[in-house]
Amino acid sequence: MVFPVREAWSACHPNTPHLDRARHSRESPRMNILLVGSGGREHALAWKIKQSPLLRRLVCAPGNPGMAAIAEVRDIKATEVARLVELAQEIAADLVVIGPEVAVEAGLADALEAASISCFGPSAAAGRLESSKAFTKTFCERHHLPTSGYRICDDAATAKAALAHFHPPYVVKADGLAAGKGVVIAPDLATAQAAIDDAFGGTFGAAGARVVIEEFLEGEIGSLFALCDGKTSMLFGWAQDHKRAFDGDEGPNTGGMGAYSPAPVFTLDLVDQVDHLLVRPAFKGIEADGAPYRGVLFVELMATRHGPKLVEFNARFGDPECQVLMLRLESDLVPYLLACATGRLHEMPKPKWRDEDAVCVVMATEGYPGAAKTGSTIGGLDQPFDEGVVIFHAGTSAGPDGVILAGSGRALNVCATGRDFAEARERAYGAVALVDWPEGFHRTDIGWRALSR
Ligand code: GLY
Repeated sequence: MVFPVREAWSACHPNTPHLDRARHSRESPRMNILLVGSGGREHALAWKIKQSPLLRRLVCAPGNPGMAAIAEVRDIKATEVARLVELAQEIAADLVVIGPEVAVEAGLADALEAASISCFGPSAAAGRLESSKAFTKTFCERHHLPTSGYRICDDAATAKAALAHFHPPYVVKADGLAAGKGVVIAPDLATAQAAIDDAFGGTFGAAGARVVIEEFLEGEIGSLFALCDGKTSMLFGWAQDHKRAFDGDEGPNTGGMGAYSPAPVFTLDLVDQVDHLLVRPAFKGIEADGAPYRGVLFVELMATRHGPKLVEFNARFGDPECQVLMLRLESDLVPYLLACATGRLHEMPKPKWRDEDAVCVVMATEGYPGAAKTGSTIGGLDQPFDEGVVIFHAGTSAGPDGVILAGSGRALNVCATGRDFAEARERAYGAVALVDWPEGFHRTDIGWRALSR
């Protein structure tokens, strides 16, 4: 069933007296939403969706203990496409929201479209902007998007020979999805060669059967988000992530160890350049390629001396960038998700953001992103935290008697808002100190670039 979009719009447009009445009326249409995923990003999306006056019922699959505290959860993996479509039908979902890239790659949006169910999240074909780094590099070349130099290699010998065309540090990337672990920034030739052997040796499974060697970009990294409904696009916030595992941007690349928003790197001028050089051409290009984009595009970019250049596209919200965006988003999220799913984004006003800063500190199990043990107990989550503190669950599970157990990766996202960056950061680290988890670690310098300005 397609949700009655016009009524939902009316219910949500702010500052319009007759529409505000509709918003509070019992006649307002209300929606059943299925949210797919189980990470901190999805907990943050669930937290924000729960605040919508448009919501009737929120079901998450598979969810996590944090999501289970605020919504129904069903034990269906994000890649179990047929079961997710069945669940959407069972709950009469008016909208399905896809969180993780694995569900995009598995073709969940395509299957939902075939079943006439509205979906926020791109088709597998449009999602190749994330699921194949080689596709994205050639896409950028065909559609003239600025990015780094590169070579695509299908065997280890070719990849090692390609290193001769680059300077250290070498950037070695597995072509496919590798949960944030498929990128190695190698300081020297030997490390780059070892990364190539790892990829072709099967460390990332099929995702490493092809490798992209890239030019290292100098500059400051940033994450910008844009919505698209297949035709119309709209910027939807920006943040800065910390990809390396350890303080001082040392150690291996991770899925992200912390984020903050707004990030000072995003001057109005940079945002405008990114919109015109990367966002609009990307949506236009993927439509021209026959795969119009519906959902959120995450543009990971480097602000270089020569302007913004694409580092990577992702076909989803960033994790943990989404967590700080949801904390700062003042507008109701649901109408934007629905607008993308139903081709009505042109009817939406620009989103409103709170005049506050938000900081997220990721806590992960010692050893991440390498081998780390699972099942350590996380305590201290039930106490009253400071004003502005919100803790999102990522890789956790519920043990006996409701204890919270950590997985082998990122487990908690300790977030806070504040009147300024310093206050948000102080509150977030204050809360981190109260979490009782000896087996966990975190970076102590989230937002160092903002502090050093
Ligand atoms: N934080 C980076 C990512 O979500 O890929």
